[in-house]
Amino acid sequence: MMLFDLNLRNQVWLRVKYRTLGRTGLSVSLVSLGSGGPSQLGQNTGVPEPEIHKLLYTALDLGMNLIDTAAGYGKSEEILGRALKTIDRNRYYIATKTRPVKENRILSASELVHQVETSLKRLQLDTIDIFQFHGVKRNEYDGVQEKLVPTAQKLKSQGKIRFIGITEMYFQDGDHQVLQRAVKDDLFDTVMVGYNLLNQTAEKTVFPLCDTNQVGVLVMIAVRKALSRIKVLEQTVANLKEKGVIPKEALPDKNPLGWLVKDGLDSVTAAAYKFVAAHNAVSTVITGTSNLSHLKSNVDAILGPPLPVEDVTRLNDIFGNISESLGN
Ligand SMILES: NC(=O)c1ccc[n+]([C@@H]2O[C@H](COP(=O)([O-])OP(=O)(O)OC[C@H]3O[C@@H](n4cnc5c(N)ncnc54)[C@H](OP(=O)(O)O)[C@@H]3O)[C@@H](O)[C@H]2O)c1
Repeated sequence: MMLFDLNLRNQVWLRVKYRTLGRTGLSVSLVSLGSGGPSQLGQNTGVPEPEIHKLLYTALDLGMNLIDTAAGYGKSEEILGRALKTIDRNRYYIATKTRPVKENRILSASELVHQVETSLKRLQLDTIDIFQFHGVKRNEYDGVQEKLVPTAQKLKSQGKIRFIGITEMYFQDGDHQVLQRAVKDDLFDTVMVGYNLLNQTAEKTVFPLCDTNQVGVLVMIAVRKALSRIKVLEQTVANLKEKGVIPKEALPDKNPLGWLVKDGLDSVTAAAYKFVAAHNAVSTVITGTSNLSHLKSNVDAILGPPLPVEDVTRLNDIFGNISESLGN
């Protein structure tokens, strides 16, 4: 891991961590910005576009250099295009994606090319740094690999995309079967995996393969709703107790992870971001916030000291064998 000091526009010096994104060789900030999920760059949370531009510029000023988006995230690509058109292209990497399926069939090569060109237009860019197949389901993987990866490789040779990635449909594939196949097949430069303290399976099933094959790891769903809204967490833990997945005495019913909040750590959400950022296999943790003060506290959490070892051990003991797609 490298540590850089960045001289910011407002002359504040901050320490930002960067990690190498697998075989891409890109040096990416350990914390990156997502434009989908529940907030979708403010489109679902009512944050007006000028405020989102401010959020993006703050992210860049904090040293974040990777932004994840998708053709399917409402107007996220267009918003990013408008916000970033005045920004030096060397200051950020864009990862975008497209679903490989339309009307229950795999896209044709020409539809994929059209999709990439549409994303480039919306983003107002000449090149996409990381083009990802979005939310690939188990029954879609063969089609992606056989029909679409060769087209993506052609787009790469034409310079329209720089690297090829794949993301999973986490809420249907909690043990990451698609990504395990994808990394073994060695066709992708990056994977985007659902990894959080409630579902730690990627540590055993995906990270070691990525390490062997030098595939970059982008983490999504680090907190989502279950680790950012107390009622959702209480319900999630109640369901796990009800099903006998965790013992009833393992955690309190009210505020079940409140014991993580201590010694200057001010929220379960901050603890949850710390948990995922601490794993060496993780190249970058995507925070899907649309709220400026959340962005700053998430960056502080991810760049600050890790959770105490005894707390991590307790989280491993309670949740370490769960492969349900928890988080929503
Ligand atoms: N299959 C796929 O390819 C796929 C699937 C899911 C996500 N993704 C990508 O990964 C990104 C991240 O995933 P995610 O959206 O699940 O991200 P996340 O960072 O795990 O969760 C985002 C949610 O947490 C809330 N939140 C964040 N920080 C908070 C804080 N400090 N306090 C309270 N609430 C907080 C956000 O609301 P606020 O806006 O109010 O902060 C939002 O509701 C997405 O944006 C997208 O780019 C890809």
